[in-house]
Amino acid sequence: MAKIGSVQISTPVMNAACSVAKSIEDVEALSKTKVGVILVGSITVEARDGNPEPRWFVGEGYALNSFGMPNGGLEFYRTNLPEMIEIAHKADKKFALSVAGFSTAEYVSLAKLADEAKVDLLELNFGCPNVSIDGKQKPIVSFDPVSLDEIIQAVSEVTKVPLMIKVSPYSNPAELARVAEVINASGKVSAVVTANTFPNGYQTEQGEPVIASKFGGVSGSAMLPISLGQVRQFRNSLRDDIAVIGVGGVESTEDAKQYFDAGAELVQCATLIVRDGHQAMDKIVAV
Ligand SMILES: Cc1cc2nc3c(=O)[nH]c(=O)nc-3n(C[C@H](O)[C@H](O)[C@H](O)COP(=O)(O)O)c2cc1C
Repeated sequence: MAKIGSVQISTPVMNAACSVAKSIEDVEALSKTKVGVILVGSITVEARDGNPEPRWFVGEGYALNSFGMPNGGLEFYRTNLPEMIEIAHKADKKFALSVAGFSTAEYVSLAKLADEAKVDLLELNFGCPNVSIDGKQKPIVSFDPVSLDEIIQAVSEVTKVPLMIKVSPYSNPAELARVAEVINASGKVSAVVTANTFPNGYQTEQGEPVIASKFGGVSGSAMLPISLGQVRQFRNSLRDDIAVIGVGGVESTEDAKQYFDAGAELVQCATLIVRDGHQAMDKIVAV
């Protein structure tokens, strides 16, 4: 049994935010797996088609993606969240929503939606590297502790749903420690989810970038030691009442066990299910 804030979770394994966690069909497919939590997202205020294709590349032991968060937008989810939550709850699973704003006000609008829909857990995506505004890469909130704190405070004014903060991997340990301090001091965060993809991977085949928008987030097994290190460092730096959720390269029960040994309360998987389908989640959950 795992716990995030006041929420009890039967099985400490869940899907991560990704391209196959957006629709009612995705929720139905995940409800047939052994996960303890079904997560939908990331969702944004406006509907998005995402980035041009190709936007997904599978290499040996890693993947690159630049989906750019395609999703139906706030109004689509206002209509569809009740059914999604019902499917999750009927299968005895908790329901989490991952949201990504382009401003503090947008995070607040999305948090209000989550509150009204009565989701069990709310994940704030502070780590998406794959979005451009007017041709320039959107700043990644994970690397700006002032904005990170401002958004946490503004969101917690409008909802009491336990907050999970999803961050990018930090290559500078001092930067990780500074973010942990801000999260500790906020008094509003129930869990830190680490890590989002490593930003701005790049690869070519026959001289051409494998991703249409050139750069992509790195995920999969190559992220395992990096994200395990992030979990260990956050566990050492965060208050005891803030859980750490491990994500990055989880493909087996052995991988998950390494995360639990490093101090994770739960693990999440994305690449595994984008590549192999939703049912692959059951490889992680020991029977
Ligand atoms: C295709 C794809 C789409 C993703 N979209 C999102 C997203 O919308 N929001 C988010 O927070 N993370 C997103 N991620 C990052 C994953 O949730 C996860 O943090 C990262 O991929 C590392 O885990 P993995 O090695 O299990 O894939 C995405 C990852 C992939 C592979």
